[in-house]
Amino acid sequence: MTKHIQFFDTTLRDGEQTIGVNFSIQDKIMLAQKISDWGADVIEAGFPVASENDFKAVRQIGQTITNCNIIGLARCVKKDIDAVIRALADAPNGQIHVFIATSPIHREAKLHMNQAAVIKKITECVSYARQSFEHVEFSPEDATRTEWDFLVKAIRTAIKAGADVINIPDTTGYTNPDEFGALFDYLKKNIPEFDRVTFSVHCHNDLGMATANALAAIKHGATRIEGTINGIGERAGNTALEEVAAAMYVRKDFYQAENHVNLKKTFEIAKMVSEKSKMPIPHNKPITGANVFAHESGIHQDGFLKNHATYEILTPQSVGIAHSSIPLGKLSGSHAVATKLSQLGYQVSSADMQEIFPIFKQVADNQAIVSNDDLRQIMQQFEKVGQM
Ligand code: KIV
Ligand code: ZN
Repeated sequence: MTKHIQFFDTTLRDGEQTIGVNFSIQDKIMLAQKISDWGADVIEAGFPVASENDFKAVRQIGQTITNCNIIGLARCVKKDIDAVIRALADAPNGQIHVFIATSPIHREAKLHMNQAAVIKKITECVSYARQSFEHVEFSPEDATRTEWDFLVKAIRTAIKAGADVINIPDTTGYTNPDEFGALFDYLKKNIPEFDRVTFSVHCHNDLGMATANALAAIKHGATRIEGTINGIGERAGNTALEEVAAAMYVRKDFYQAENHVNLKKTFEIAKMVSEKSKMPIPHNKPITGANVFAHESGIHQDGFLKNHATYEILTPQSVGIAHSSIPLGKLSGSHAVATKLSQLGYQVSSADMQEIFPIFKQVADNQAIVSNDDLRQIMQQFEKVGQM
């Protein structure tokens, strides 16, 4: 059966925790509009208690964006929860996300609280938040380094106090797909209320596994994925939501799940987040990087020219990129060179190519990319030799 996966975008909150990123309120409103049009079900608009501008941004986004849910973040602290209540007082679709750390290292080194004190706080803060919000998401921060039996206890406490979304954060990017899947299986088995609430995941990318971990969670029962556009966020960042959306599209057979994302708008939103965060999209960034639909080596170019699907598992158009490219370099083959020459208006026979290709190879060996102008010069050289 096809299940629905909610996309929870935290570009404006965890994404803004990226070093050097500070979105203006105007930028946040513009980004929230784009992210909701892209198809996010929930937007985490900020952490209202953190600053006056965060508060204003959450407030304005909550009032302006009405086609998805707008959530504000709070620690398990009364003044944080009150700030979210005030910021989202006029929001038609306002929700709250409360969190407290549950792992031993966080309990001991950061919170100076024992397990019983954490459980007490969860009851207090979730039930307090529930008095003002119909929907409350609870996160046991650093869940993946928490004792599994205590994690169950913390989650059941939050559900009992009124949380209807439980988020499992891999706060430090510590877990891996196998272990995360096993954790979900354990939660399913040990939490009788599992099917009554939404299970969400929030993965960080410290070991480069944020997307893989989020997808493993989908396979094992999560129905909400948290992440950011371009994977920006604290330290190595968060799950890149566009990667999850593309994986679900390409491997629908495997995930058997759908979402509201309009994949064709992906490149547009990725460019906007890149511009506003002043973080260029790396060339090899999956889905949206400049090299993702470009084919450099001769074997790949030949296969691609015969049938694009030999080396492309999704089309550039499906994510809003105009077309693929076959840049020419020293590893390129004669099929690609001949194709490029014909695009430039040259009629070349296979006999001509026998002579042109060695000239091309000589030029290509000394530079990264052979441009159209270089090709024109190569053709001049070839034609000159022919006239002699
Ligand atoms: O990474 C994390 O644990 C968080 C929580 C606030 C969900 O960002
Ligand atoms: Zn986070």
